[in-house]
Amino acid sequence: MFKKFKYLLILAACFISAYSEVFTYEQALTNCDALNLHIQSYGPDGRTHTLNKKGAASASFDYAMRAFLKFSKGKEVLEIGGCYGDVMLQALKQSKDTKYVLSDLDARHLFIAAKCLAEKIQQNWLESSSANQVKFAQADITDACEIQKLGLHDAIYVGEVFHFLTPDQLELAVKHLFLLLKPNGRVYVTALSPYLKHHEKFILEYERRVKSGEKYPGFTKSLRDYIKFDEITPLLITSTLDGTFLFLDVKTLKEVFENNGFKVLECKFVPLSHKSKLWSYDGREYVIIIAEKDAAPLNVVGHN
Ligand SMILES: C[S@@+](CC[C@H](N)C(=O)[O-])C[C@H]1O[C@@H](n2cnc3c(N)ncnc32)[C@H](O)[C@@H]1O
Repeated sequence: MFKKFKYLLILAACFISAYSEVFTYEQALTNCDALNLHIQSYGPDGRTHTLNKKGAASASFDYAMRAFLKFSKGKEVLEIGGCYGDVMLQALKQSKDTKYVLSDLDARHLFIAAKCLAEKIQQNWLESSSANQVKFAQADITDACEIQKLGLHDAIYVGEVFHFLTPDQLELAVKHLFLLLKPNGRVYVTALSPYLKHHEKFILEYERRVKSGEKYPGFTKSLRDYIKFDEITPLLITSTLDGTFLFLDVKTLKEVFENNGFKVLECKFVPLSHKSKLWSYDGREYVIIIAEKDAAPLNVVGHN
């Protein structure tokens, strides 16, 4: 009896958390003003800080973003870790029929994204009806309860989010992406590879682990031993020292997506989408994956 009651309580908590943090354009805009948040300015490299020290948002579009935009025209789509909504604005510009859910861990990013949308409408770059095409949802992609608010989609874009996860969280995130897609829906991912200039001391260790066949060779509990830093090192770098870090590569990404029922359409290293002395290494800075939810997956590991 008590067990049943506890189960009902968990279900109710899931339901409440699932619906309490989805915002319309108007609600997100009101929250932006109430919290006195402002549109962020972008640096010469087309990037700007996140408010929660989770890397930078980029206004320059990489390979997977562009492929996602092409595929998403007129469809129901979702972006995970979408931050200030740069991809969303482009998706709205290219089609009046696209339905876009912009999601992020930090609701403040979403409120600022609504403000950016308002600005684009004011400048007549977008029509006012674009506001009806969007919803804003605060959610952690690794949380089974929270993802319930996100709906079902034809395509999902995830840009520079996976390196904040542990291997276990990545497995969960990919499982959740599968659940959030309609049959034959596609996921587009841009992730950080180990081939980044500022973290180059880690490359040797990574390649040693690859040679010895370790699973998740790009995972480290701390990057401190691999980075030279001083008081002038930018926050974007020093903030990577606080938590764990997961660099990804073609083999690792392919494996985790295939194990979760996806058919991999493309998976490869690609260069940075912006010029950066700090990050540019040898043209393999990002690893992208484009994968499809097979309508009838075979041999899905860990799926009921
Ligand atoms: C480096 S920024 C990338 C922003 C944007 N996607 C881009 O590529 O320009 C990472 C974003 O992912 C979000 N994020 C980090 N962990 C997340 C998680 N577990 N679930 C959802 N979003 C997450 C952060 O809040 C942040 O806005």
